[in-house]
Amino acid sequence: DEKKKLLNKHFLVTAGPTYEKIDPVRFIGNFSSGKMGFALAEELAQQGARVSLVCGPVSLQVQHPNIERIDVVSAEEMKQAALEIFPQTDGAVMCAAVADYRPKFPATEKIKRQNSDMTIELEANDDIAACLGQMKKEGQVLVGFALETRDEQANALKKMKRKNLDFIVLNSLQDKGAGFGVDTNKISILTKDNKAIDFQLKMKTEVACDIVDQLASCF
Ligand code: C5P
Repeated sequence: DEKKKLLNKHFLVTAGPTYEKIDPVRFIGNFSSGKMGFALAEELAQQGARVSLVCGPVSLQVQHPNIERIDVVSAEEMKQAALEIFPQTDGAVMCAAVADYRPKFPATEKIKRQNSDMTIELEANDDIAACLGQMKKEGQVLVGFALETRDEQANALKKMKRKNLDFIVLNSLQDKGAGFGVDTNKISILTKDNKAIDFQLKMKTEVACDIVDQLASCF
């Protein structure tokens, strides 16, 4: 029996999509299922860590008793929760697909159909990972994800630097079995000391083990 690599450590994990309100019944969202983030939280807990799992709207359930689930809806709510939790942790894994924009003027009443086109003005959400990157203290480890369609490695490396991450998990879009909704994923891990590690297509639960191993190696 392998010994628990992250015994008594505490991590923040963000997971799932965010929903940005247009009016009381409509939102801007995305297809993130939360599966990768939940798999990471489970694996961290398996390795002896306590996990604060901040998740957007997902239809998944937490298994391990050492995972505390904090449900949020919007990017702004996710940011508030993350900023509050992060200082008490040994690190964070930013797995959520946070909406980049929110409607600037969400309507308080349901918007009526008009016989014309309509425009919704959007404003930018804050980058939660980048906020945590600025707050990061000695000994804390920060992990992010990247999903790129071109110049994958170069763009992921830029992201890692800009957000002050310790390593970044690059999701492949080349592969049918990788990405949103499905149970499998194919990743590369890029580290701040310029290592690139390519993994095979695997179940998200196994991908989570690879990511947690890399995280454990940072302590
Ligand atoms: O810049 P991009 O959205 O591609 O970066 C992806 C990484 O940053 C992921 O780890 C994601 O969880 C995180 N992120 C965030 N807050 C945002 C946007 C992205 O934490 N507003």
